[in-house]
Amino acid sequence: MTTSPRIDRARLLGRLETFNRIGALPGGGNCRLALSDEDRAGRDLLVRWMGELGLAVTIDAIGNIIGVRRGRSEELAPVMFGSHVDTVGTGGRYDGLYGVLAGLEVCEALSDASVATRRPLALVAFTNEEGSRFAPYAMGSLVYVGGLALGDAYAIRGIDGATVGAELRRIGYVGKAKPGWLKPHAYLELHIEQGPILEDEGLVIAAVEAIAGLAWTEVTATGRSGHAGTTPMHLRHDAAHIAGEIAVFVRRLACEIGGHQKGTVGRIELYPNLVNVIAERAVLTVDLRNTDAAQLQRAERALAACLDQLAARENVSISTRGLAHFAPVTFPAEIVSLVEATARELGLPCRRLPSGAGHDAQMMARICPTGMIFVPSIGGLSHNVREDTKPEHLEAGAAVLMRAAMRLAD
Ligand code: HGY
Ligand code: MN
Ligand code: MN
Repeated sequence: MTTSPRIDRARLLGRLETFNRIGALPGGGNCRLALSDEDRAGRDLLVRWMGELGLAVTIDAIGNIIGVRRGRSEELAPVMFGSHVDTVGTGGRYDGLYGVLAGLEVCEALSDASVATRRPLALVAFTNEEGSRFAPYAMGSLVYVGGLALGDAYAIRGIDGATVGAELRRIGYVGKAKPGWLKPHAYLELHIEQGPILEDEGLVIAAVEAIAGLAWTEVTATGRSGHAGTTPMHLRHDAAHIAGEIAVFVRRLACEIGGHQKGTVGRIELYPNLVNVIAERAVLTVDLRNTDAAQLQRAERALAACLDQLAARENVSISTRGLAHFAPVTFPAEIVSLVEATARELGLPCRRLPSGAGHDAQMMARICPTGMIFVPSIGGLSHNVREDTKPEHLEAGAAVLMRAAMRLAD
C-alpha cells in the first residue's frame, strides 16, 4: 500500500552535516577539490549511501557516479537528477552537494512510501563540476554528453601540475562504464541560487530558464624583471602593472556592457613575486559571462583588443590560452513550466530566473530535456565559506524535485 512520499528534513540535513565533515575548513565551509583525497572520501561515502538504499551504482570512465533506482518498466530511459560533490577551494556547504543529497533523499522518501515510478530514476554526481583545479568546469558532464573526448580530459593538467587521468586513477575512480552509457529521458538539477534575487523578493523556488554562456581565458604577460629601486619608470616592462590594468579593464568592461554581463579576474600569479623585483611574468585568468551570446562575443573581442594595445604600449608579450568556452543554454519551456507548476501546487512562491553560474545541466541540455530548480542563498553568497540556505528552503527544493521527477517518471 503506497502512501504519499514525504521529504524527511532531518534526514536530509543529517546527511549534509555528515558529508560536510569531509574537507571541512577550520573557519567553516569546505574544500573538496576535484579528484583530491577529500573528493575521494566524499565519493566513497556517496557510493556507500547509494548502495544502502539499494541503488545500482555504476562509475564511468571519467568518474561520474550514477545510482539507478528500479522502475516498474526497466526498459524505459530513466529520469536523471543530481549535481556534483566537488567544491571550490573555499566552498560552502550546499553548492552541488545539496542537489545530490536531496536526490538521495527523494529516492529514500519514495522507498519509505513504497512508491515505484514507471521509469527508473538515476541519481548522478558528476566529476569536477567546479573546474577550479582542472578547467573546464562541468568536465564530467561534458564528457558524458560527448563534448570532450575522454583522452583529452585525461590529459588536462591542473593548476597544481597533476593531470586528470593520473588523479582519477590515484583515487580509484576510473570506472568501466562508457560515459553517456545511460541516455536519460530527462535531467533535473536542484541547486542553490548562489545569488540574491530569491531572497530579495521573498520567494522560495526559481524555475531556471537559462544558463549564461562563458569564456575562461588564461593570460600570460611577459615583461622584464628589474630592480625596483634603480629602473626608471619609463623604462619598465612590468608584468604586474599589465595584470593590474587587465583586472581594471575587465571590471570596467562588464559594468559598461551591463545587463547580465559579468567579468572576473580570479587568479593572478606573479613571477618572481618578490617585493623588490619588477615582475617578469604574470599569469592571470579572465572569466567573462553573459546569457546573451552576442554581448559575450562583444566582451571577448574587447578583451582581445585591450591585450593587443597593452602589449604594444608596454612593449611586453601577451599570450592567451582558452580554458573553457560554453554558449548560453535555454531550457525547454515544458520543463521550466513543470518546475513552476510543481512549486505552485506545493504552495511555494516561485519565479523564473536565468543562472549566472554554470552547472552540469548546461551540458545535459545537449542530450535530453533538462531543467533546474533553485532555492534561495542567504545574502546571495556562494563560493564563500559562509554560504547558507534556510532548512525549510532545503526541504522545499527537495519536495519540488521529488514531485517533478515523479511527474516525468510517470
Ligand atoms: O563557475 C561556475 O559557474 C560553477 O560554479 N562551476
Ligand atoms: Mn554548483
Ligand atoms: Mn560552484
